[in-house]
Amino acid sequence: MKVLITAGPTREPIDPVRYLTNRSSGKMGYAIANAAAHAGHQVLLISGPTALDVPEGVDFLQIESAEEMYQAVADYLPRMDAGIFAAAVADYTPAVVPEQKIKKSDDSLTLKLVKTKDILGSAREIMGFRGFLVGFAAETENVEENAKLKLQKKGCDLVVANDVSRRDIGFDSSDNEAILVFRDRTELFEKAPKHDLAMYIVSMIGGAGVTTFK
Ligand code: CTP
Ligand code: CA
Repeated sequence: MKVLITAGPTREPIDPVRYLTNRSSGKMGYAIANAAAHAGHQVLLISGPTALDVPEGVDFLQIESAEEMYQAVADYLPRMDAGIFAAAVADYTPAVVPEQKIKKSDDSLTLKLVKTKDILGSAREIMGFRGFLVGFAAETENVEENAKLKLQKKGCDLVVANDVSRRDIGFDSSDNEAILVFRDRTELFEKAPKHDLAMYIVSMIGGAGVTTFK
C-alpha cells in the first residue's frame, strides 16, 4: 500500500527569528513510518522539524508551518491508500508576520493568532480521500469521549487517543499507552514502546476495515 504519514510539531513564524511550536518529538510518527516500511508499504513521511533520523526506505518531505504541511498533504494524499496523521499541528498561527524582527518596547506584547486549517479534517471532503484514515487525539481529559467525537467529525477509520497529561507516555517519551477508537469498537493498548504501538497501527491499515465513508 501507499501510506502517507504526518509527524512532528509545526513551527509557526512570529517574525524572522521567532516561532510558536509544541512539545511533539516526532517519535510516534517516525516509529509508524519505520514500521510501515518494514511491513513492505511505500511510505511518504511529511514532517515538521525533529531531532530524529529519517527511517530507511522512506520518502521524506520536511515542512515547517501548518500551512506548508497542509499543502504537502493536499498534493500527495489523493494518490495514497492510507493516511496516518500523527503530527502535532499548531491550531493557531500568528495573523501577520512582520518582515523585520519585533523590537522590545512596551511591558507587554499581544500576538493575534488565527486558526490553521485542519489537515486531517480536510482529508475526506476537501481532498476527496477514500483510503484508510487514521487520526490521533491528544487529550488531557475525557480521552475516549473526545476521541469518538474526533473520529466522527474527521471521518476517520481509527483514532489513536493519548492522555498527554501523563508524563510517562506521549510527547517526548519512548513509550505510549493509547485508546484505539474504531467505528465499531474501542480497544486499550497498554503501555509499551512506541515501536510496538506503531506496528499494531500499521497492522490495522491493511486489515478488513476498508473504509465505508460516504
Ligand atoms: N490535525 C491536523 N491539522 C490540524 C490540527 C490537527 O491534521 N490543524 C490532526 C492531528 O494530526 C491529529 C488530529 O487532527 O491526528 C487531532 O489533533 P488534536 O490536536 O488532538 O485535535 P484538534 O482537532 O486539533 O482539537 P483540539 O486540539 O482542540 O483537541
Ligand atoms: Ca489541536
